Amino acid sequence: MESSNVISMSVADRPLPTSDAQPTAASMSILVCTTCASTWQNGQRVGTSGGEQLLNRLETYLAEHPTGAIAVAPTQCMSACSHACAVAFAAEGKHSYLFGDLPHDRADLDQTVEAIATCAALYADRPDGLLAWAERPEPLKNGVLARIPPVGSLVVR
Ligand code: FES
Repeated sequence: MESSNVISMSVADRPLPTSDAQPTAASMSILVCTTCASTWQNGQRVGTSGGEQLLNRLETYLAEHPTGAIAVAPTQCMSACSHACAVAFAAEGKHSYLFGDLPHDRADLDQTVEAIATCAALYADRPDGLLAWAERPEPLKNGVLARIPPVGSLVVR
């Protein structure tokens, strides 16, 4: 779903954050791809995508288990389309992670959401955001697609 043809049709039902968005006091953000696991008919997205279902469930979970440290940001394609569902962790001064292959079937969704929230809490507590394989919840152990160092840590040549 990464072709420009498809992307131009990928309009999420929710507005994306803009520069006018209120700043958040959260120490990290979970970016959730809302176009992952979409169903297409005649070039149009139909129904609620797997990513939107995951987003909705994650927002509900975090509202029921508030930490104040975690914000959720819906986003569109993060170029991990063949690894739906995809989420990313990001925070200023920390490594960023892109996770894929997160189970999003109805039967798996609660476990996936709990795993994301648990792992995000670990991430929020770490000054550098680094997450060891062994400490990550099961759905986030093998699905790491990228770990990107914080911009401020880069040595530019
Ligand atoms: S649709 Fe491309 S990463 Fe979700």
